[in-house]
Amino acid sequence: MSKRPLIIDCDPGTDDAQCIMMLAASGLFDIKGITATHGNVPLSMTSVNALYLAHLLGIDCPVYKGAEQALIMRLPRAENVHGAGGLGGYEFSAEGLEFASGKARDFLYETAVECKGELEICAIGPLTNLAITVMKHPDFPSLVKKLVIMGGARAEGNMTPLAEFNVYQDPHACEIVLQAGFKDFVVVDYQACKTAYLDKAEQEKIRNMSDKNTFAPLLKAYMIHRDNSIKEAVGTVYEEKFARMAEKMVFCDAAASAVLIDESVATYQPVYMMCETQGEKTMGCTVIDKYGLSGMTNVKLCVGLDRDKYAKMYFDCLEKYEV
Ligand code: RIB
Ligand code: CA
Repeated sequence: MSKRPLIIDCDPGTDDAQCIMMLAASGLFDIKGITATHGNVPLSMTSVNALYLAHLLGIDCPVYKGAEQALIMRLPRAENVHGAGGLGGYEFSAEGLEFASGKARDFLYETAVECKGELEICAIGPLTNLAITVMKHPDFPSLVKKLVIMGGARAEGNMTPLAEFNVYQDPHACEIVLQAGFKDFVVVDYQACKTAYLDKAEQEKIRNMSDKNTFAPLLKAYMIHRDNSIKEAVGTVYEEKFARMAEKMVFCDAAASAVLIDESVATYQPVYMMCETQGEKTMGCTVIDKYGLSGMTNVKLCVGLDRDKYAKMYFDCLEKYEV
């Protein structure tokens, strides 16, 4: 069976790294390229992280620097979650690795044209690159077979009481993409991601991984960063939140890769989704008309994943990097 052409648009990002690892390990995709965007850390870091991850994971594809800033918003990043460099304190050299020349938005469009409507996209950061591509090439959505994003929240957010990080970083881009007419558009929101977690035993399995696994050093460095964050939260207002994290390790972006690898890992509900771009307190909130009052649908909201199926998929992919 021929491999599915895919572009990964990302802001690595420790969970982006899991997503890219799974997509590469699945063997299902002809990864045409990786486009980096601002997000968890500045573009100067997300782009180098993407370049290094492609090298580490043996993905032979061009890596493009995309948008440095959101269309309008200018917000703090997420170094507290992903570490100063964006990969949880993991240190690496990207010496000798080079970015592709050209603009991410042109690469996205030109690849969609070349793939004659077969291109799939996994977007796991702020949607600025996709929004710019849509604005420059309004026929882009009609050329994309499937778009899966990690973003939004049907209930509480992780950046504000209502907004999830990727959408909050660029709500204007999100609204443009939501209304652009992508025909098979799956949204894996924050609540769906939280159904896809690794339990304490599985976390321990990762801590004890052999370094003979190519991905292990990066993953174990992240675990140390995460464990330290949980310890440091004791006695602060974040203690309860981090204690919950300790029980259930969620890699948000890995949920999006799982859905792309095997759509049967989750259930979905067609809904009409909008993004708030005006509210002082509601900025970045993804507004979901789940009862169909608008008479329209524009996305398939991922309701939730089968946790056991997700965890098996994660470790099956991880084991592909045993050397
Ligand atoms: O809210 C989680 C999302 O924001 C993930 O994609 C994470 O990498 C950050 O980009
Ligand atoms: Ca991300």
